[in-house]
Amino acid sequence: MLAIEGPPAGNADGYTDTEQLTQIMQQPRVVTGISTAPDAQASGATPLVRAHGVTLQYKTPDHLVTATYRVSFDIFPGERYVILGPSGCGKSTILKAIAGFLKPVEGSFTLKGKPVTGPGPDRLMVFQEFDQLLPWKTVLGNVMFPMLENGVSRADSERRAREALTKVNLGDFVDVYPHMLSGGMKQRCAIARAMAMKPDVLMMDEPYAALDALTRRKMQDELLQLWNDIRFTLVFVTHSIEEAVILGSRILVLSPHPGQVRAELNSPGFAYDARSGAAFHELVQKISFMLFGDRGGSH
Ligand SMILES: Nc1ncnc2c1ncn2[C@@H]1O[C@H](COP(=O)(O)OP(=O)(O)OP(=O)(O)O)[C@@H](O)[C@H]1O
Ligand SMILES: [Mg+2]
Repeated sequence: MLAIEGPPAGNADGYTDTEQLTQIMQQPRVVTGISTAPDAQASGATPLVRAHGVTLQYKTPDHLVTATYRVSFDIFPGERYVILGPSGCGKSTILKAIAGFLKPVEGSFTLKGKPVTGPGPDRLMVFQEFDQLLPWKTVLGNVMFPMLENGVSRADSERRAREALTKVNLGDFVDVYPHMLSGGMKQRCAIARAMAMKPDVLMMDEPYAALDALTRRKMQDELLQLWNDIRFTLVFVTHSIEEAVILGSRILVLSPHPGQVRAELNSPGFAYDARSGAAFHELVQKISFMLFGDRGGSH
């Protein structure tokens, strides 16, 4: 099922052709190779993460900054949920709030039906690959490290670390050091480290923003492959429309500051070959129009 929710009342500027967009989204899948997430929405499953009318603010000595205004969305198990919007629209703030570091001034976040009241190992952020692995520890040591810090016994940490590393296809690299890994392998290691903690949801905040185009593409494909292999729930933040369309099974489009929901739409999943195709470009263009109106542009 493909669905698009229209913009909330009073938030319709620049988004006028829902019908046309719906048609594009309802075209048959263009490629195979990237499976879509299970259609949990249709089955009426409980959302893993629910944002209900969430307004997030920062209070500084001089200002009150409203980062998001009455944002609602549901994230279901196994989704690749992308939060897309221009710089300053509150994407990182939403992740901070899901992680429990920031409380909404209005509305609520729930995780598996329970209110989010603070941080917990059930929601983990995977940071950019090059600033997170400890260079003096082996791959195994890196994956064990947060578990040991959280009071898991050495034996259990090692067992869980080896399991997670096998899942991400790094079973043969447990004894090597991060500098000996490719960028993609570092990403796998970082995800294994998070997965070993058995979180409900993994979050990534613009992890590829600083990478060159080729490396970025490689990392995106690695991430999709990994998701195909192990099906975790991913919340991915980006301000790149192309990246959102490539990576997302569902995309939340936020308006510029303060972030409000402009639309939520399904992406059919575009494998590498299909990214030069018409359907891909049409979808990118449509989202671009939604965000920027006549001005176009993808960022
Ligand atoms: N610690 C803070 N104190 C005050 N204002 C903040 C703070 N962090 C963010 N903001 C403001 O909140 C708004 C949303 O910021 P946020 O970082 O969530 O945006 P973003 O969508 O992640 O942007 P980007 O794409 O540039 O990372 C912005 O106006 C920003 O200036
Ligand atoms: Mg940000």
